Amino acid sequence: MKQFDYLILGSGIAGLTFALKVAPHGRVAIVTKKDRAESNTNYAQGGIASVTSKEDSFELHVRDTLEAGAGLCKENVVRTIVEEGPARIQELIELGMKFSESEQRAEDGSRELDLGREGGHSKRRILHAKDMTGREIERALLDAISRQPNIEIFENHVAIDLITSQKLGYVGENHCLGAYVFDKKGNRVWTFAAPVTVLATGGCGKVYLYTTNPDIATGDGVAMAFRAGASIANMEFVQFHPTCLYHPKAKSFLISEAVRGEGGILKSLAGREFMDGVHPLKSLAPRDIVARAIDSEMKKTGADCVHLDITHKPARFIIERFPNIYKTCLGYGIDITKEPIPVVPAAHYQCGGVVTNVDGETDIAGLYAVGEVACTGLHGANRLASNSLLEALVCAHRAAQKILAAPHGKTDLKIPFWQSGNATNADELVVVSHNWDELRRLMWDYVGIVRTNKRLQRAQSRLANLQQEIQEYYWNFIVTADLLELRNIATVAELIVRCAMMRPESRGLNYNLDFPDTNPDWAKRDSVVRK
Ligand code: FAD
Ligand code: SIN
Repeated sequence: MKQFDYLILGSGIAGLTFALKVAPHGRVAIVTKKDRAESNTNYAQGGIASVTSKEDSFELHVRDTLEAGAGLCKENVVRTIVEEGPARIQELIELGMKFSESEQRAEDGSRELDLGREGGHSKRRILHAKDMTGREIERALLDAISRQPNIEIFENHVAIDLITSQKLGYVGENHCLGAYVFDKKGNRVWTFAAPVTVLATGGCGKVYLYTTNPDIATGDGVAMAFRAGASIANMEFVQFHPTCLYHPKAKSFLISEAVRGEGGILKSLAGREFMDGVHPLKSLAPRDIVARAIDSEMKKTGADCVHLDITHKPARFIIERFPNIYKTCLGYGIDITKEPIPVVPAAHYQCGGVVTNVDGETDIAGLYAVGEVACTGLHGANRLASNSLLEALVCAHRAAQKILAAPHGKTDLKIPFWQSGNATNADELVVVSHNWDELRRLMWDYVGIVRTNKRLQRAQSRLANLQQEIQEYYWNFIVTADLLELRNIATVAELIVRCAMMRPESRGLNYNLDFPDTNPDWAKRDSVVRK
């Protein structure tokens, strides 16, 4: 049994930001699946959207967010997050974050921060560290964490399930009391107890065969919260990033939207600029529109990918602005200063998640969710590029302030230790790897960018079989990280399908050929599921 004041699951921007805010007030445990920096945050390229220039305004950022969100954003949440952004960015800079600077100088002679542009933004407002923004955020936050004696980080520890009063059979309001956590190296399960538990476990890209996300993104937070009885919403809105590098040896390498922001043009393999006539912003249209146009272009022509061409820009500019993309592509034999980049859409971001308010509160007492795992209402039916790092920063801060203003008392409920199945059978491990592959392909083929009712039904019945097999396996065998993640991606897949089946319309990222139109009756309705 390990007792803390704050238990944080996840060490991306959301978890680390929250930890820094509460550390002066109590003992903090950060539990994280792999190495401490390994997270979606670490791979963020484009940057953080926030209003910092005189030519920009909160009103414009709010408007762009609402427009991308296709009518489903909560305007009060959008306003709060947009307006509190600059203060949180300033704090990040004070912690040591180094954003790229522009060539221009401010009136006092200092350099201004360089502002990038991405799809759906009417102004340049993306603060970035070249094309490695996430790496620099993790560096700055982890440096600051290392100076905090109150914070202990548990690497290679996988949270299995939340411990709640209801699961333990207590009546009355459901309270979160902590989590059971699998220690991969020690091969044992610990009980972490805390009056406050924060889910900062990120997204679920690994539910799909092709994704920009690293391996940690298996939707564990959503699955754990669902099993604990929390409300989950809008899981049908999975954002597919239009431009993931297409190369047999590249696992999941993103080509940032900022490349299009700096003039990159999408072309068919024959060189046709196919975004002309699709949207006034052409290659820089909102992501849902661009991803669907690429999907349609690939289906029409039978091509395996499309091209993103930035060769018309000076080579020096490309190498200076996108050093990581340039180097990585060159490693695969593609010189992006001289030839177009082969790209395909891939699962990228989970717009839905655990239902919270803008302070990260869920409907279970003592349980908070911040960052990509949460559904605050900021993104609606389609996230505006670079709004997620901003949301994580603002909501982690607000959750900490809320908790510090009214601290949760320690519980005297008795928490039992973990009980595990005790069978091991190496032969059976093939079931786990087979089900991983089958599930991800099934989601890609049946629940991808363009959906139909029939494909959703087919996915639902296949998923039911898979889940039954996984459940049997789970109860009988000793836990492994692979099995835990498989159980979670199966739950998340089921939630995506259930939410998609609840929505009789096409809106934002949920495009269903059987309901091709947007239905005004669903304009303000979230698709909410509970256990
Ligand atoms: P993450 O950063 O994903 O962190 C999740 C943490 O939880 C990890 O430490 C993980 O190990 C841990 N974890 C998960 N499950 C468990 C478990 N069961 N037990 C213990 N630990 C667990 N957004 C932008 O705004 N701008 C961008 O430029 C941008 N670029 C992106 C580029 C790429 C390639 C990707 C994949 C995403 C990008 N995004 C971008 C999205 C953004 O990076 C994420 O939404 C954001 O970083 C999520 O932060 P987070 O703290 O919520 O989760
Ligand atoms: C990118 O750099 O294209 C990713 C930005 C984002 O997902 O917000």
